Amino acid sequence: MRLLVTGGAGFIGSNFIRYWLTTHPDDQVINFDALTYAGNLENLRDIEDNPNYEFVKGNICDRDAVDAVMSRVDTVVHFAAESHVDRSISDPMPFIKTNVEGTFVLLESALKHSISRFHHISTDEVFGALPLDSKRKFTDDTKYDPHSPYSASKAASDHLVRAYHDTYGLPVTISNCSNNFGPYHFPEKLIPLAITNILEGKKVPVYGDGLYVRDWLYVKDHCTAIDAILTNGKIGRTYLVGGLTEDIPNIEVIRRILRIMGKGEEMIEYVKDRPGHDRRYAIDWTTIKRELNWKPAYSFDQALQETIHWFESNRQWWERIKSGAYREYYQNQYSVTE
Ligand code: NAD
Ligand code: DAU
Repeated sequence: MRLLVTGGAGFIGSNFIRYWLTTHPDDQVINFDALTYAGNLENLRDIEDNPNYEFVKGNICDRDAVDAVMSRVDTVVHFAAESHVDRSISDPMPFIKTNVEGTFVLLESALKHSISRFHHISTDEVFGALPLDSKRKFTDDTKYDPHSPYSASKAASDHLVRAYHDTYGLPVTISNCSNNFGPYHFPEKLIPLAITNILEGKKVPVYGDGLYVRDWLYVKDHCTAIDAILTNGKIGRTYLVGGLTEDIPNIEVIRRILRIMGKGEEMIEYVKDRPGHDRRYAIDWTTIKRELNWKPAYSFDQALQETIHWFESNRQWWERIKSGAYREYYQNQYSVTE
């Protein structure tokens, strides 16, 4: 296969490229990435000399640049996006540009170049929120109900991808997955922010009452799910991908991290809540298990241990991200209420 991976310098995209070149060593990968604040070529240092890997700096909204790379591949795995909910609340425009317009440009180009598979990476946030005191999960039949500019832009992109399949016959697949975590996770998201703050001796900011629930998926499990979909997934289908967690509230996630790192509850700091904060996410991944024989391999605690170990061993990687201009973002984002 000749793969075009968009957003391959980000968290999940870089994990995926490393996974793919290891498990499919004869395939070729072009990593097309604009290198926004979240794109970091240091994520791929260990594979940059691989002859089957090439990096092309470019924006998915740029038709000519997209056409140039699209003409050289047969398969697209589309990760590129603005991905952080809090940033979408303070500045939605880049989310509409990249997530909606950028996806549109890619679809047009994929059609023009008769791409044999366009796989779109999406999120469970398009389904909105589940109540805290229920056992319900997002299923194949759950209606879209996005609440943040981020999730609304991802929902729009999903609809466009389906429209290009239904209208023009573009061979697409979509996956909606839950919260990833693991190596190279950008330290603006909860788990890497918590681990790196603790390593720096800083408190961990917990939004609102801390009782929000996410479905945690180890990024390595996400990579095997995408592999299963690219290899055996049915054209036109959407697959829900989730982890092995059972309703762990954010505050409990932080407590487990503190326990593993040998620190106490004095490191927790409650801060103002996120506007429109979705209460609970949970994914029913039985369809992909039944049809493609995929299931997550890592327990939450095992993956959390591995992740903490990775951040402890790769201090330079995250210290460079958290230094300098980045501090300004943290100051604006976190005003303490208690
Ligand atoms: P990320 O923010 O870490 O990385 C995004 C990458 O896209 C960066 O390398 C960035 O430079 C690149 N990019 C942004 N705008 C671009 C543009 N206009 N043109 C080209 N490249 C551009 O994101 P992530 O966490 O790795 O998420 C990857 C994908 O997975 C996204 O589509 C996201 O919506 C989806 N997703 C993420 C999670 C999660 O928990 N992180 C969960 C579900 C779905
Ligand atoms: O569900 C999939 C989504 O998961 C992806 O589509 C998004 O790209 C990804 O960013 C992630 O979104 P979340 O908003 O769930 O992730 P985040 O790490 O920002 O927050 C996780 C939970 O932790 C959420 O309930 C908000 C809370 N939180 C977050 C931060 C950054 C805190 O309590 N404190 C924090 O400092």
